[in-house]
Amino acid sequence: MPVGTGLLPFPVGTVGVPLAGVAWNRPRCRWCLLSSPPMTDITNPGPASPSTPISTAPDPVATASRAASDAPGFVVVTRTFYDAIAEDYAERFRDELVARPLERAVLTAYAELVGAGGRVADLGCGPGRSTGFLASRGLDISGLDLSESMLAIARRENPAIRFEQGSMLELDFADGSLAGVVSFYSSIHTPVDELPALFAEFHRVLAPGGHLLLAFQVGDEPRHYDQPWGHPVAIDFERRRPEQMAALLTAAGFAMLSRTVREPDPGLGESTPHAFLIARVPE
Ligand SMILES: C[S@@+](CC[C@H](N)C(=O)[O-])C[C@H]1O[C@@H](n2cnc3c(N)ncnc32)[C@H](O)[C@@H]1O
Repeated sequence: MPVGTGLLPFPVGTVGVPLAGVAWNRPRCRWCLLSSPPMTDITNPGPASPSTPISTAPDPVATASRAASDAPGFVVVTRTFYDAIAEDYAERFRDELVARPLERAVLTAYAELVGAGGRVADLGCGPGRSTGFLASRGLDISGLDLSESMLAIARRENPAIRFEQGSMLELDFADGSLAGVVSFYSSIHTPVDELPALFAEFHRVLAPGGHLLLAFQVGDEPRHYDQPWGHPVAIDFERRRPEQMAALLTAAGFAMLSRTVREPDPGLGESTPHAFLIARVPE
């Protein structure tokens, strides 16, 4: 499979593949939309195209940004990637929750478990759709993201909600200060070796009895995205097993409450199941 290692910020030799048999005017999964035609479908690879670019060198934009920062390479690559694609991402996934009743059900159940009163942080909030939805379910929620471009959209679309720039790997919240932490597809760029530290950070900021919601695509291999929608950036999207993530959460001190896995919706162009784990900090 033409992917990077999944642990490196840049591809080690990747081949984009053209989309076979997918109509471009249909709403599709958040990942298979990430590359502009004829680069994808990343989730339903067809035969390699002679015109398909082959990436062997780091992206110059990401390289420049990385040199100017002390942040880990994968964090800089992630921020650079989402800064570049933010407006396209927000536009293409505008109705994502509208089209996915099971996501809405999980978010609604999570909001009920957390309850009103405590503070909740949507970490890696992107354009703030999950943040806005959870606010509409009564949570006192704020958003945090690496990408200023994503945050600008989140603020524009949710003027009543507070959004701040930062990394969820080093949170500015005091120990035990939150009733809830949401990571909705935001841990998918964190290398597996860094997940214990990430989950320890989630655990640190949650109060006893606080709830974590973790969403991610299910699978074993990362997907590589190169020049999504023509932007000169590249990144790997990790896929993970629910049992692997549950074991890491348990090791970080969480008690598992639920594991929801929904099948891919071919009508939305999805090819992988999606997992939603809810865990709690023991009282
Ligand atoms: C796939 S998008 C998901 C956005 C949003 N949660 C949603 O469901 O639409 C991943 C988001 O996580 C953010 N992200 C990834 N790693 C992060 C980190 N270490 N700290 C903060 N945000 C991060 C990215 O900037 C991006 O906006």
